[in-house]
Amino acid sequence: MGKMDPHSYTDLEQGKTKHVELNLFVDFKRQALKGEAVLHFHKGGEGAIDLDTRDLIIDAVYSKDGLPIKWEKSETDGFMGEKLRIYRPVGTKALIIRYATTPNSTALQWLSPQQTAGGEYPFLFSQCQPIHARSMVPLQDSPLVRFSYTARIMISKSMTAIMSAAPGVLEPGPTKDSKTCVFNMPQPIPSYLLALAVGCIEYQDLSDRARVYAEPATLQQAVYEFAEIEQMIVAAEEIFGPYQWERFDFAVMPPAFPYGGMENPRLTFLTPTLLAGDRSLVNVLTHELAHSWTGNLVTNATMNDFWLNEGFTVWAERRILEKLEGPEMFALAANLGVNKLKEEIKRFGETSPYTSLKTNLEGTDPDEVYSQVPYEKGFLFVQLAEETLGREVFDAFVKRYMNRFKFSSITTETFESYFLKYFPEAAEKMGLDEWLRGTGLPENAPTFHSDRLAELKAGATAFATLPMSESALPENLNPTEMQVFLSELPIVMEPQRCELLDKSLNLSNSGNAEILCQWYVIAVSSGYHQVLDQVELFLGRVGRMKFIKPLFKALKDHEHTAEKAQKIFDKLKQSYHPIARGVLEKMLC
Ligand code: BES
Ligand code: ZN
Repeated sequence: MGKMDPHSYTDLEQGKTKHVELNLFVDFKRQALKGEAVLHFHKGGEGAIDLDTRDLIIDAVYSKDGLPIKWEKSETDGFMGEKLRIYRPVGTKALIIRYATTPNSTALQWLSPQQTAGGEYPFLFSQCQPIHARSMVPLQDSPLVRFSYTARIMISKSMTAIMSAAPGVLEPGPTKDSKTCVFNMPQPIPSYLLALAVGCIEYQDLSDRARVYAEPATLQQAVYEFAEIEQMIVAAEEIFGPYQWERFDFAVMPPAFPYGGMENPRLTFLTPTLLAGDRSLVNVLTHELAHSWTGNLVTNATMNDFWLNEGFTVWAERRILEKLEGPEMFALAANLGVNKLKEEIKRFGETSPYTSLKTNLEGTDPDEVYSQVPYEKGFLFVQLAEETLGREVFDAFVKRYMNRFKFSSITTETFESYFLKYFPEAAEKMGLDEWLRGTGLPENAPTFHSDRLAELKAGATAFATLPMSESALPENLNPTEMQVFLSELPIVMEPQRCELLDKSLNLSNSGNAEILCQWYVIAVSSGYHQVLDQVELFLGRVGRMKFIKPLFKALKDHEHTAEKAQKIFDKLKQSYHPIARGVLEKMLC
């Protein structure tokens, strides 16, 4: 059958990894992980087996009894990396690979002490989704393969290591200044959920199954911001059934973390830009928690089915939100999503294949086409299914679906036939095929209404169109309402109107990074240059792609700031995560 995942050299016919053992020394001086990975397979095999690697130095491959095994590494093929072909003697059930990462390994970001909140210790974190695990460990880097893992991570005594596994157990290290942190992840995970962070990290327990990790300088803020985690888990369990991963711990990363959150099982990673001080951005934590069901239990087979992870998770996130905060908040969040989706479809063009749920990304770097489509179009599709079948019927279906496919990776087609088996008529009525394979936004997409939403929309239209003297602004907006209001404004307005907006709503002083980013995009696109210094500072203090991408784009697209965009990027690029750097480089050139 051959290759099945366009983003991996994995050939399932050669055998599948069952368990991975990692023995790694964390070398901050050389910015490298060094040691060995032991891959255990389900069955003994012989002959060639292909692994994914990228920017790794392979020293040697051995059998379990220490005999050298022949291997070869292919030329590098861009984002795919290098194929590592190993020639197994008959009956090989395990392989030991001695290797080291290089400073180019895209999964890893090595931060200097200055790039951390505390400023004293360096920091390392990984980000493996979508296809970066191969730059941290040589392995079958495809979600079609799931493995359990154990890890022995050797670090300096003064630091802490955490992984997407049960909390580490400490053992003495090989030298007197070092220690070994031993991790065990008994549940099988796809490679993109492998995660490691090392730094000056402390924790506080928030309930008997949830703990927050952070640098000491941000821990107390994090404890306040995310204090409601246990209520969230309980609400999620009421909808989706028991939590299956025992613990839900999460860690606040340094500002360079390129995403809002990453659902590493038992150890979600979060951006510190969520620390708004008023719990207004916790939905990202809710989202990563929801992945514990949608994504981590039932996983997309390849990045072509990414919407199965994200669309379902946005829906699940908003169901939890509705349960905890009511239907008004649900409508506001869903409408914000619709606006983002419409912008994204406009950017790609209505007939662009990137606006389909099922995609064909063969030959395409998934990081380059990352968009809101799988999230928000996926959400609308799941929401439509819920509305068509009724909540009770659909919730029962979702539970059955998760139970049927838990701990496995499925394609859009598998989901489709499972859905069709139960609901052929609803599928017809919804236009299932068009939703899954068509481009643009289908006509029967759900819409969202609430009194508050209507007020905010009317307020935004009035503000943008009335003569300046008559433009009234709504008062006492909560942070979500503020985001809705801003998202309903045109991106380009007269500079004076921008000034009025800023003064009346105090936008430039907002502590909420979502609001700041939305405001800065409007201001920059409108040529309201008073904000440029602040924008530059903002770009220097956050590395989250959701913010820096649109801001650089706005700078680049405006004739007066196009050059500045390049200058700021050249100055800051070393501090950005390798994934962010790559994406911005492509966008700016
Ligand atoms: N799994 C994603 C992050 C991701 C996706 C990393 C693809 C790399 C490749 C995570 O669950 C996510 O979606 N995060 C969002 C938050 C959200 C509330 C939609 C983010 O980072 O903004
Ligand atoms: Zn997600």
